Amino acid sequence: MPKLTEAESNNAIADRLPAMTPMGQPLDWAWLRGAPSEWGVRPKPSARGLTMSDIAIGTYGEVPEQAQRRSMAGRGSTVEGDAPDMGYILNKKSDVWSDNVRELYEEAVARQWSATRDIPWNELPELPSDIEHAVCQVFTTLAEIEMIAADLPAKWMWRMNHDYLEAKMFLCTQIMDEARHTEVFRKRALSNGGGLLYSRSSGESLLRSILEAKTYTQATALLHLLGEGFILDIFRMGELIAPSHVEKKIFRMAMQDEARHVAYGTMHLRYAVENDPDVAEEIHEALDHGELLLTTFGTNADFGSALAYLLGGGEEHIEDKGFPLQMEMQRHQFTSYLSRCERAGISRLERTKLPLDLLGIDVSKIRGTSATAA
Ligand SMILES: [Fe+2]
Ligand SMILES: [Fe+2]
Repeated sequence: MPKLTEAESNNAIADRLPAMTPMGQPLDWAWLRGAPSEWGVRPKPSARGLTMSDIAIGTYGEVPEQAQRRSMAGRGSTVEGDAPDMGYILNKKSDVWSDNVRELYEEAVARQWSATRDIPWNELPELPSDIEHAVCQVFTTLAEIEMIAADLPAKWMWRMNHDYLEAKMFLCTQIMDEARHTEVFRKRALSNGGGLLYSRSSGESLLRSILEAKTYTQATALLHLLGEGFILDIFRMGELIAPSHVEKKIFRMAMQDEARHVAYGTMHLRYAVENDPDVAEEIHEALDHGELLLTTFGTNADFGSALAYLLGGGEEHIEDKGFPLQMEMQRHQFTSYLSRCERAGISRLERTKLPLDLLGIDVSKIRGTSATAA
């Protein structure tokens, strides 16, 4: 007897199987007979294991520019009948995608950490009361603003077409990261004999306008590119802000997470502008508004003064060290923000209302920043 092919053998099994359940319900063995979807793919695990990039092979790796349906069916599966419309409004790849999103997802999963376990809480030194107050004010503000970066992706994720699941999966990791940042900052404020201090309306106004952005791309410009970029630069100054090795570690751990969020936003905007040049103006409008709000937030008396106090190491050096270091930090924040805009393909140099001269920003170093990492 000639040897049956795999499909013939499976069909023969399906033919022999009962057509009804013992309760008289019809049975469907279509899955055994195969489907038009691609069969027999065998991705090779890379050195790190089986990554999302490894399984993006054949038709499974083809991310459509325009999604054809609005269901939760996995990209590449055989979709039958009329699946209900999930109400997705972000149905174009350029609405949500970034070319680094699979890599960023893998990195995020590999680098999860625990605010409970990975911070040496029992090594916190007793600090002078004024320094502890400054630390608590900084972490009060940070704990407050972190959750915007979870709420905002959450607000848009259920509107994203499921064909772009890697982008949604990455945003899930961001939400977890932000929960951990809120946790670690709140824990630090409460862990050394201090507590939570002031929340002011300027911070809340900034958060509200991010949350209320009209489109996801505007939202990501305000959140990932502008807001989180600024926070990332504060974390990068963590070595100078932190009074002990415990806060230094907190800033270091949060920094690596934040860098991923900024990298996604920068590359998403780049992808959006390259594929749909019309969105550039919409991004500029959001940033016109966002820069103004951020400048107001930057003058937030509590957060700013507490940071300067820590940068100066206390009262004695607030003027000769604290404020100058804070100015340097601001210069750095605005320089890296404007460079990120260049990389994203939305140069702000001709458009921004930021007082570049006053901030001491060297525009020649920013112009034409290369299109590589964020
Ligand atoms: Fe964060
Ligand atoms: Fe973040």
